[in-house]
Amino acid sequence: MTSGAVAVLTAAGSGSRLGLGYPKALAELAGRSLVGHAASRLCATGEIGALVVTAPAEHLAQFRAALAAEPGLTVPWQVVAGGASRQASVSAGLAALESSREPGDVYDVVLVHDAARPLAPPALMRRIIDAVRAGHRAVVPGLAVTDTIKQVDDDADAPDASGAVRVAGTVDRAALRAVQTPQGFAWDLLLRAHAAGAARAGVESTAATDDSALVEALGEAVWIVDGDPRALKITTEQDLAVAEVLVLTEGDPMDPAPTTQPAGLPRVGIGTDVHAFADPALGRELWMAGLHWPGENGLAGHSDADVVAHAAADAIFSATGLGDLGSNFGTSAPEWAGASGASLLAEAAARARAAGFQIGNVAVQLVGNRPRLGARRAEAEAVLTAAAGAPVTVTATTTDGLGLTGRSEGVAAIATALVVG
Ligand code: CTP
Ligand code: MG
Repeated sequence: MTSGAVAVLTAAGSGSRLGLGYPKALAELAGRSLVGHAASRLCATGEIGALVVTAPAEHLAQFRAALAAEPGLTVPWQVVAGGASRQASVSAGLAALESSREPGDVYDVVLVHDAARPLAPPALMRRIIDAVRAGHRAVVPGLAVTDTIKQVDDDADAPDASGAVRVAGTVDRAALRAVQTPQGFAWDLLLRAHAAGAARAGVESTAATDDSALVEALGEAVWIVDGDPRALKITTEQDLAVAEVLVLTEGDPMDPAPTTQPAGLPRVGIGTDVHAFADPALGRELWMAGLHWPGENGLAGHSDADVVAHAAADAIFSATGLGDLGSNFGTSAPEWAGASGASLLAEAAARARAAGFQIGNVAVQLVGNRPRLGARRAEAEAVLTAAAGAPVTVTATTTDGLGLTGRSEGVAAIATALVVG
C-alpha cells in the first residue's frame, strides 16, 4: 500500500541539443546515468512511495537496466513510454501511477521532476513536498534571474543578415523567476490540470513546458519557493561539464559510502610498526631502514623487524585500500615469512601499482634512541627509494626518555604514503 507522495520522473526526451545519439537521460555523469541520479535523489527524500519514469518508447529496456543498477532505488518503480511532448510524457506517468494504485492507496502529493536536472538535492524535493502539505497546492522551485533580460521584436525569428535581432524593451528582472523541477502538486489538482490541458499535449509547439502552467491555466494559484542552483538543467555538453565539476568538488551526497576518490585527487595512508630489542645475549643482528647495522643490538621478532620498512609498506597498503601488512604477508602467506623489510616494501609497491595506483612518496619517522640514523640517512633513503620505486624519506626522533622507545626497550616507526589512483 502506498500512502503519501508519489513521483513522475520525465526522461522521455531525445536530448537533441546534447546530441549524443542516445537519450539524454542515459548520459553519464560521474559514472552514473542522469536518470539514475535523479531517481536516487527522489528516493533519498524518504517521502516517495511510488515512482514512475517515462522513457522513449524504443529505449525502455535500457532505462530499466540503468535504474536496476542504482542501489538507491528503494521504492517500487516502473518505466513507461513517454509521449510526443513533455506534457504528454507526464500525462502517461500520471496514468501509470493511477492504474497501479491499489484500493486504499492515498496519494497526497505528486512531484514531477526532470531527469535533465540530475543533481536537484533531496532537501529541495522535501521543501516542495512540505510546501504542498502546508496548503500551497501547486509549488515550484524558482531562482531570481541574474542576467538582464531583453524582449526582442516579434520577428525575432527572422534576424537580419548578420544574425542580429532588434531589442523591443528591457524586462524588469526583479519580477522574474527561473523555475526548476521538481514541481509539487496536490494529486487531484495535477490530474485535473492535465485533463483540462490534454488537447495541448500532442505537439511540442502547443504543449506546456512545465506542469505549473497547466495549473495556471485552470486559474489556480501556483507558488514559488527557493530553488537550488544544483538543480541546474542539462541541455548542452557544457551543462554536463559543469555538473561533473559540481559532483567532483562537492561530492555526491547520494553516494552512501564513497569508496572511489574524485578523479585526480591523491589518497594518503598511514603505517606504524613497533619491535622490542632482543636479549643482547642472543646476538641478533640489527636491520633497520633497509640497512644492516653492525655492532648494534638487533630487534626481536620473526621477521627482520625492520620497523621503518614495515611502516612504509603498511602506509602504502593503507593508502591504496589493499589491506595491511598482516593481511598481505601474514600467516596466510607463508612464502613471505622471513622476507626482508625492503623486499616487503618492494612487494607492497608492486601490488599498489598492479591495482592501478601511482606512488607519490612515502615519509617514515623512526622513533627511538638507537640506531643513530643521521650518518646513514642518505644510504637508507636510497635503499628504500629503490625498493618502493618512489621517493622514501626517513627522519628520526627520540621521546625524551619516556615510554618504551625512551627507555630503549624497543623502537617504533610511523609512515605516511601518498598515492594517486
Ligand atoms: N521530456 C519527456 N518527453 C518528451 C520531451 C521531454 O519526458 N517528449 C523530458 C526530458 O526527458 C527532460 C525534460 O522533459 O527530462 C525536459 O526536457 P528537455 O530538457 O528539453 O530534454 P530533451 O527534450 O530530451 O532535450 P532536447 O530538447 O535538447 O531534445
Ligand atoms: Mg526538449
